Amino acid sequence: MSPLCSPPTAITPNSPVSLYSRSNLLSLFASSSTTRHKTDNSWRNFKAKMSSPSALAPSDSSPPLPPLPENPTVLGCGGLSMDLLAAVEAYPEPDDKIRSTSLKIQGGGNVGNALTCAARLGLNPRLISKIADDSQGRGILEELEADGIDTSFLVVSKEGNSPFTYVIVDNQTKTRTCIHTPGFPPMIPDDISKSSLFSALDGVRLAYFDVRLPATALVVGHEVIIIFFSLVVVWAWTEASSVPSALLSMLLRLPNVRFVIVTLGGDGCIMLQRSVTEGDQSEEMDIDNLLESLNQRKDSNTTIPTCISSAETKLRANGIGTVSGRLFIGTAEKIPPSELVDTTGAGDAFIGAILYAICAGMQPEKMLPFATQVAACSCRALGARTGLPHHTDPRLAPFLRQTP
Ligand SMILES: Nc1ncnc2c1ncn2[C@@H]1O[C@H](COP(=O)(O)OP(=O)(O)O)[C@@H](O)[C@H]1O
Ligand SMILES: [Mg+2]
Repeated sequence: MSPLCSPPTAITPNSPVSLYSRSNLLSLFASSSTTRHKTDNSWRNFKAKMSSPSALAPSDSSPPLPPLPENPTVLGCGGLSMDLLAAVEAYPEPDDKIRSTSLKIQGGGNVGNALTCAARLGLNPRLISKIADDSQGRGILEELEADGIDTSFLVVSKEGNSPFTYVIVDNQTKTRTCIHTPGFPPMIPDDISKSSLFSALDGVRLAYFDVRLPATALVVGHEVIIIFFSLVVVWAWTEASSVPSALLSMLLRLPNVRFVIVTLGGDGCIMLQRSVTEGDQSEEMDIDNLLESLNQRKDSNTTIPTCISSAETKLRANGIGTVSGRLFIGTAEKIPPSELVDTTGAGDAFIGAILYAICAGMQPEKMLPFATQVAACSCRALGARTGLPHHTDPRLAPFLRQTP
């Protein structure tokens, strides 16, 4: 479960936006390192060709997809990893010796996965992170570049180790258990010069930070627009008694934040959006009751992602306060058990899709089903990235074409 917040100001092409993630453990990063600055941008041209709307035109008579966002450059700062994924029939007991049903070695890490998702959807992601010059690091880099991510701001330490994660995917409970070894040495703000930072931010529409590089994120992200926290942090911070009241508490504590989203695995997500203008709603409504009434409007026969929204209301959380806004439920796709393979990185896929949705100017009613659909695609294959769909994937077409 992971909540996502965003700021109040309208997102314009030239205003940097930041996403922070606190969903994961802090990763260690380093000082004895060299920064690679690639001057060869040929991959960008290649990617632009591959993803231009004309190249994407469907061959049948279905209406064309909407064009890609006009300013598609996003910056991500945070953790990378090499994932070693083993799927098993059932989670082992201590001291067991068992066999895997399938195995995959694949790049991972919150920001690496979210940017890979964004790249496949047609954005131009840039990455600030740190790896070591070891075999894992080289593999991580190769995969990112193959997906068209600009790695020219990546810091590569000569010494140390790249981050590494064992992932046990339990076919029985459909859970993934992660054992993470952070990279070493850890990234510090001095790893990237001010001038490199400015170059990295040049022309960037949105920036996404996960918690793995908080010190670097604070230097880069002076204009925070989106924040991503783990629910554990939110519970401790807000002392709220329910998910909706925790979301409301966050909007009160972060007055510049425009919306907050929490993802709930197979139950989809909940979003609370602050009203831009204070209306004159005289009646207050309890936010837990409002969520309950939205839940009752769910159609249990529908398997595809949907969005259920409230009207603009003055919302109250007992003992916390009131906020004027709208509450949304984004339902997840009901994936048949035989097709649900691995939920590793589902939250990262969701965030990658939200990055795209913001750049494309989608409204919440369109953004939430789109993001849950992208995340559902990612759950159908082993690993965080294998199932990430491309912009032209026919499973996304109805969600991209949908209005608003
Ligand atoms: N079992 C599932 N069935 C359908 N969709 C899922 C499932 N698990 C996750 N998702 C989708 O992925 C999104 C993020 O998943 P979640 O498990 O909350 O993130 P995290 O990766 O942080 O644990 C959910 O909001 C949902 O849309
Ligand atoms: Mg999950």
